[in-house]
Amino acid sequence: MAAVPIHDVQRLSARHLTADMDLNGDEIQSLLKLAFQIKAYPRKYAKALSGRSICLLFEKPSLRTRITFELAIKQTGGEAVFCEGRIGAREPLKDVARNMDGWVDAIVARTFDQSTIEQLAQCASIPVINALSDLYHPCQALADMFTLKEYFGDLQGLSLAFVGDGNNVAHSLMLCSAQLGVNFSLATPPAYKPDPRIVEVAMRWAKATGASLRITEDPVEAVTDARAVYTDVWASMGQENEAAERRRYFVPYQVNDELMQKARPDAVFMHCLPAKRGEEVTDSVIESSQSIVFTQAENRLHLQKALLIMMLA
Ligand code: CP
Ligand code: NVA
Repeated sequence: MAAVPIHDVQRLSARHLTADMDLNGDEIQSLLKLAFQIKAYPRKYAKALSGRSICLLFEKPSLRTRITFELAIKQTGGEAVFCEGRIGAREPLKDVARNMDGWVDAIVARTFDQSTIEQLAQCASIPVINALSDLYHPCQALADMFTLKEYFGDLQGLSLAFVGDGNNVAHSLMLCSAQLGVNFSLATPPAYKPDPRIVEVAMRWAKATGASLRITEDPVEAVTDARAVYTDVWASMGQENEAAERRRYFVPYQVNDELMQKARPDAVFMHCLPAKRGEEVTDSVIESSQSIVFTQAENRLHLQKALLIMMLA
């Protein structure tokens, strides 16, 4: 497999990646294909973003997303600038966006409200990429689809089960799965179901790609015969004060050895990280040979290089 020359790289139809809805299934497939080439031949893309500057505006902490974006930019020849703080607190958001327009070629934003990312995209003339909001985590889900493809080959008909909170990561995985024909099952406590507007979009896409989408309250039902079992923290960033309350509802949703045994014997365990061992996942599962959590984290780098190249090169 030879590296795709930069001038042959397909451009994405949307200027921004504010949410998973900005990409169609064909574009995700092209993105995954390019990410495979970048992972295999990183040096061939060392100048792909030469002369480009990208600002990371983060309202929340980050290890993986910040480091993999900064490295993705630097390893493809670009400049990365990081800025932490509430967007729009010191000055109107539209002024932040217009400052960015004059300095950099794209914004990678991690925010509390999804509307902050959407307003940045409206006010800026440069592309805006969602690096996690309360509603979506598209870069995580895209990298996870890449990881699943790396492990299993074909994504069509693969069964992915998510057990836990119907949160940003669950939303993005649900949407990406529906676009790519992955059968997705989600088990949440009754009060922590995914956003029904997002489920409706995913249902429509799943119908078109022939994928199944199941939402249940029963973790065993969700993971039975799954090839991949995924979980995330019970209280996301910004929900720390709800942690004790949430724990009461989420205990039956812990991914432990007993639950993993209901999945296929060759099932992998996935987590976006950071993980709270002893809460949503046991130490035994996350440290087991089935766990691919650090491959997921590594693949954020390759996938985000592909994304930046397809959006900016
Ligand atoms: N998975 C993920 O986005 O990790 P960070 O919060 O460390 O960026
Ligand atoms: N759902 C988690 C994901 C962290 C990567 C959060 O939003 O905090």
